[in-house]
Amino acid sequence: QLADSLYILNGFAQKFFSDALFNTEEGQDIGLSYLKERGFNEEIMRKFQLGYCPDQRDTFARAALAAQYNPEYLQKSGLVVLRDEKLIDNYRGRIIFPVHNQTGKVIGFGARIIRSNDRAPKYINTPENEIYVKSKILYGSYQARQAIDKADECLLVEGYTDVISLHQAGIENVVASGGTSLTIDQLRLVRKYTHHLTIIYDGDNAGIKAALRGLDLALEEGLDVKLVLIPDKEDPDSYVRRIGAAAFRDFVAANKKDVILFQLEVALKDAANDTNKKAAVVNQVAETIARINKAEDFTRQQDYIRQSAELLHIEETGLHTLVNKYIRE
Ligand code: UTP
Ligand code: MN
Ligand code: MN
Ligand code: MN
Ligand code: MN
Repeated sequence: QLADSLYILNGFAQKFFSDALFNTEEGQDIGLSYLKERGFNEEIMRKFQLGYCPDQRDTFARAALAAQYNPEYLQKSGLVVLRDEKLIDNYRGRIIFPVHNQTGKVIGFGARIIRSNDRAPKYINTPENEIYVKSKILYGSYQARQAIDKADECLLVEGYTDVISLHQAGIENVVASGGTSLTIDQLRLVRKYTHHLTIIYDGDNAGIKAALRGLDLALEEGLDVKLVLIPDKEDPDSYVRRIGAAAFRDFVAANKKDVILFQLEVALKDAANDTNKKAAVVNQVAETIARINKAEDFTRQQDYIRQSAELLHIEETGLHTLVNKYIRE
């Protein structure tokens, strides 16, 4: 009941914000021109149902109240907030990115500020409620579903605009984690569609750490995880715009790293000539390999043992024994 009401309210809000973007003077002058300046075309804006929230006190709140929406639900949805005992719009003056569930219903919103400043967050997201559960959401999964099936691969990026830009470039099998750390529920969602996951994160330290953090969980879900790091100071949105769709595809194909071997390289570099640290790396890699979902396939495990032993300059049989020890534990 409450959930249904929130779906209906979000649908109303999505239409209100899209209408404000395309059909009002303020929306066109501020929202539409911002999105066009960034290179988004109207077709892609409509596909993702983008919108704009007028920079007035309560334009949306008044429309929703006039349409008989319950004030309590209005607050639960995060669309409005109570200030001085009045309901005011929470996303004033922001670009609206609706977030859809698997069936295409709007479950929440990301709202981006137009001119960044230090006092306000770049994005405001829907607060957790009965239908918006952050740990279970992959932005873009509704729009990406068919392309993921077709490619038998899911690309994972960090942000809203990365997903939309890649779609516009014709790369549609892409979803976003909305920030950084991946959860087990998000990985299970991916696993329902495909077991090939390619993480395309920013090449900075935060991006690398975030990618590796989800690794063990992903392996246990039976996912085959590859990693592509985007050059420094760029993200998939800026990068695909700069180099174009074809070059972006080539870049991904040429820079796809096996994430287990990548983790090993990072750890080895860190251990350098320290033998204690190197021994810890050997243990860590054996443990990781042992986590590869047994049901998945045996040859994958064997391949990792061979390639890792080579990188570590140790005997394959020794690593094999160690992996088996972790499997039994
Ligand atoms: P980014 O800071 O990389 O933003 O955060 P972006 O996606 O590149 O957005 P643009 O291109 O500047 O418009 C990546 C993602 O992290 C979440 C959002 O989901 C964002 O898309 N995020 C970021 C927030 O939720 N809140 C924030 O204040 C910042
Ligand atoms: Mn396969
Ligand atoms: Mn980053
Ligand atoms: Mn980014
Ligand atoms: Mn960006």
